[in-house]
Amino acid sequence: MERKKVAVLFGGCSTEYNISLQSAYSVITHLNAELYDTILVGITRQGNWLRYYGSPEKIPDNTWMDSGECISAVISPDRSIHGLLEFHDDKVITTRVDVAFPVLHGKNGEDGTLQGLLTMAGIPFVGCGTLSSAMCMDKDIAHKMAGLAGIKTPASIVLDQKAAEEELLPLTGELNCPLFVKPVNAGSSFGITKVMSKRELPDAVRTALDHDCRVIIEEAIEGFEVGCAVLGNESLTIGEVDEIELNQGFFDYTEKYTLKTSAIHMPARIDRDTAQRIKQTAVVIYKALHCSGCARVDMFLTPEQEIIFNEVNTIPGFTSHSRYPSMLKGIGLTFEQIVDRLIRLAMES
Ligand SMILES: Nc1ncnc2c1ncn2[C@@H]1O[C@H](COP(=O)(O)OP(=O)(O)O)[C@@H](O)[C@H]1O
Ligand SMILES: [Mg+2]
Repeated sequence: MERKKVAVLFGGCSTEYNISLQSAYSVITHLNAELYDTILVGITRQGNWLRYYGSPEKIPDNTWMDSGECISAVISPDRSIHGLLEFHDDKVITTRVDVAFPVLHGKNGEDGTLQGLLTMAGIPFVGCGTLSSAMCMDKDIAHKMAGLAGIKTPASIVLDQKAAEEELLPLTGELNCPLFVKPVNAGSSFGITKVMSKRELPDAVRTALDHDCRVIIEEAIEGFEVGCAVLGNESLTIGEVDEIELNQGFFDYTEKYTLKTSAIHMPARIDRDTAQRIKQTAVVIYKALHCSGCARVDMFLTPEQEIIFNEVNTIPGFTSHSRYPSMLKGIGLTFEQIVDRLIRLAMES
């Protein structure tokens, strides 16, 4: 059987560029070479697209671009190309791609924009489609869709653009502190502030607005955050539930990538019934947001054992020690098997 050509897209015009490099390296090095022929496509932080011919080893330390092994290249929206246009000095070469694997986090990668391009191009791709990706990336829309499916979400309000400082108090009148102020579209905790008093709101809103033009202000949920890995299109594979133990503040960028004062427990330290309820809730949310392929569904478990939705990550961290693969490892899937399943799911949808 001929090997399928898999285009792995990495980097991205996003604040999460660096994290993508780590995730992509793991995906690339776990692709079964007997089944798949890997085509590497790097997108720089500035948004330049390059076909990368060098070694994957230069991806995680971000030296791939300096190697002189890159050629300007783009995915053509023209379906007859079904792949890449590469701009060599004297000619344009086309390379057919069977399936794309976007390992991009955050804006311009996880938010439906790239998925739209791949859909236009007629190229099957790993993960959620355009609408689902866009809905999951938008913390407000995601809450509303989950709410319609009967899932509890934190009480919140949304600000479009700047609100004058004197407007903030009446707008948040119904909400009780502490509050989380977040960009509606972002990830890795960029632009998020936990405020203990409403006096801190103007600064927090300004910080969030640096990342997006809309801000969501939501009540802090007591308890702890749990995650659930979901894999599949119609028939779903559900991983073990994990738990984030915080010892101070919240799961901010530093904690996410250093775990200095926090810890991830996989499986979560909860009873079986609660784990089962969390998995069922994750499936309802996955379906409500029209997810396909994969997603990590994050929720809070309150001291009263209530499950409250937080967010869905449609391209979750994919390093070999990341939460999504660890939760699936918990039910016996290896990283290689996960990558393989994802590619097969993309081609069947
Ligand atoms: N309503 C909330 N209640 C309690 N903690 C929250 C709330 N919203 C966010 N957090 C904390 O902030 C972290 C990042 O928020 P999240 O909405 O998951 O954004 P990101 O997409 O950046 O991961 C969460 O992991 C959690 O620790
Ligand atoms: Mg999160």
